[in-house]
This record gives sequence, C-alpha cells and structure tokens, in this order.
Amino acid sequence: MHLSITLIPGDGVGPEVVAAACDVLDAVAARFGHTVAAATQLMGGAALRAGQPALPPETLAACRATRATLLGAVGDPAFDHLPPKERPEGGLLAIRKGLGVFANLRPTRIWPGLEESGPLKADIARGADLLIVRELTGGLYFGEPRQIDRLAGEAFNTMRYSTAEIERIARVAFDAARTRRRHVTSVDKANVLETSQLWRSVVTDVATQYPDVALQHLYVDSCAMALVTHPTRFDVILTENLFGDILSDEAAVIAGSIGLLPSASLGTGPGLYEPVHGSAPDIAGQDKANPLGTIASLAMLLRYSFGLELEADHIDAAIGATLAEGDRTADLPGAAIAIGCREMGRRVAARIAALT
Ligand code: IPM
Ligand code: MN
Repeated sequence: MHLSITLIPGDGVGPEVVAAACDVLDAVAARFGHTVAAATQLMGGAALRAGQPALPPETLAACRATRATLLGAVGDPAFDHLPPKERPEGGLLAIRKGLGVFANLRPTRIWPGLEESGPLKADIARGADLLIVRELTGGLYFGEPRQIDRLAGEAFNTMRYSTAEIERIARVAFDAARTRRRHVTSVDKANVLETSQLWRSVVTDVATQYPDVALQHLYVDSCAMALVTHPTRFDVILTENLFGDILSDEAAVIAGSIGLLPSASLGTGPGLYEPVHGSAPDIAGQDKANPLGTIASLAMLLRYSFGLELEADHIDAAIGATLAEGDRTADLPGAAIAIGCREMGRRVAARIAALT
C-alpha cells in the first residue's frame, strides 16, 4: 500500500518524537512492503516563528489532502502572552475543528514489567486497560459566547452540547466497547450541570441500540477517584471535552508516564494522531523525551486510517517487547540507565524487523 501522510512535528519535543516514530514507520514499511510519502507541515509556535498563524491554511489543506496526520506537540511558552486563539494551542484546537475530528480516543494500559515500578501499587495497576473516548470539538473549549473583560474583572465561557453531538460520540464509545470488554462508563456532572443532564439522557437512549454493552453513569469527581483506586473497573470511559482532558492526564498515572500515551482523533474524514503529552519545553532538544506515545499513535494511525491491523499489532508488540526488555527513557519508572529518544525509536524499529 502507498501510505501518504502529513507530519506536523510542532514545538518542544515534538520534532524529536516524530523523528523517532518515522524510524518505526520506515521499519514497518520495509517489513510489510509499503511505500511512504510523508510531507512535513508547520503548526503552533513553529508556525508563529515563521511569521504565520498558529494553524497556517496550507497546513490544514495538507492534512485534508492525506488520510492521516501525525502530530508531535504544540505549545511554546514564548507565546503565552497572546490571546488564546492566537497561541500555539489555538492552532491545535483549530486543526481539530477544521478536520472535524470530534472523537478523541485515548487508550491507557499498564505495560507488563512496569507494574512494580509505577506510581500506583502493583496490585491496583495490574491488568488495567481502558479507553477514554473524549468529545473533542464541543463543550467549553468551543462554546460561544466567551469573553474576558479585564476592566470589569469578569470572564465567562459557555458549555454547550447538542443531542446530535452527544449521539455521535456515544456511538463511537459503544462501537469501541464492542471490540473490547463491552462496558461503557459515561462520565458527567449531572447533579449540577444541564449539559450533563442532556448528556446522560442521550447516552441512555443510544445505549438501547447496544443491548450487548453494559452502561454505567458516573459523576466526574467520583470517576477521578476510582481511576486511581480501581482502574481495572473501567473498560471504555465516555465523556465530554474538558472532563476528558483532565481524566486522560490522570489516567497517565496508571501507565506510569504520560510519555506512553497515544491518541487518535477521528471524524468522518482524515484522522489526527498525537501523543497525549505536550511540548515539554524543559527537556526539548535534549534527546530525553519518550517517543513511545508517538509510536503508539502511529500504530493507531495505521489501524484506523489505513486499516493495517497487522502492522499496528506489530508496533504495539514491539513497544511491549522493548519495555519488557528493560529499555527505559528517563521519564519511565525503573530507569536505572535511561536511553535517549532516538535510541528508543531505533530499538522499537529493530524489533519490528525482528518480530516473528
Ligand atoms: C490535550 C492538550 C490540549 C487540550 C491543549 C494543548 C489545548 O492538553 O490534547 O490534552 O486541552 O486538548
Ligand atoms: Mn490535555
């Protein structure tokens, strides 16, 4: 197959983790006989530094013209003074909206070998394997009106959801549950928020079309606690944009490092794939970042945008083998001798070539 994709290295450690993932992509292409065309585009701080907006129109056009985009990270403290929409992060929100990728899939699992050394007790973390399905183009992030009035010392945002928006993300969660353990936990704050009351009733309605999937509703505060006390209770977590943002960082604790977490953002057209960690400016350019979240995002890209299940399984297996072997970047628990970002990429790539 010819794999034409768009690369957005972005800011901070983004270029390093994307380069490592490209080594893995080359190894997959060589092993399975695919050809790759990967064109690099600017976004975020990298685009602002080049005198362009955080999301240059050519970048969005390039992403629309390929089936999938692999993005490193976006965010640069040099632009913290700009209004939210003009900041690097504004570019990220604009590309999500521009591609219409309303469903953000964030899987978290404890890799064998990391249970004993992670932040959670081994007995709590062992066997944890969950998928957060986060609504990505609605809620407080995009709701209008929104305003900050510095003179009056007042600001507001709007949390807004329509039945159609809730229905389509709920279907993604129930469909995903059918490929897993057939359990959906819908997370809201229906004891306080009207948006959550609508959320709960729409999700309950959608669930009637999935009689083979069990549905549970949980308040977000209670979910936040259960995630780290009983992570194995969860299979698929379905939630709105801001709750999903917060819970997915918390879920990183289960895995042991946010550097391990991949994500896929899907709509009806091209997909966007990015690690959950940010640009990590404190370690940028030092070859210290963990590329495994980006490499696992590449696996999701091959799986969801190209239907290459076998190739994706190989990447996941190579990540598991590398971790089981004791290879560790500095962020990972139990890193006695840490290896660099590029070396980690090379080792996963070498395992792709070697796996039987
Ligand atoms: C994430 C990030 C983004 C978000 C930021 C950088 C806008 O935290 O992808 O989780 O809040 O969605
Ligand atoms: Mn986040």
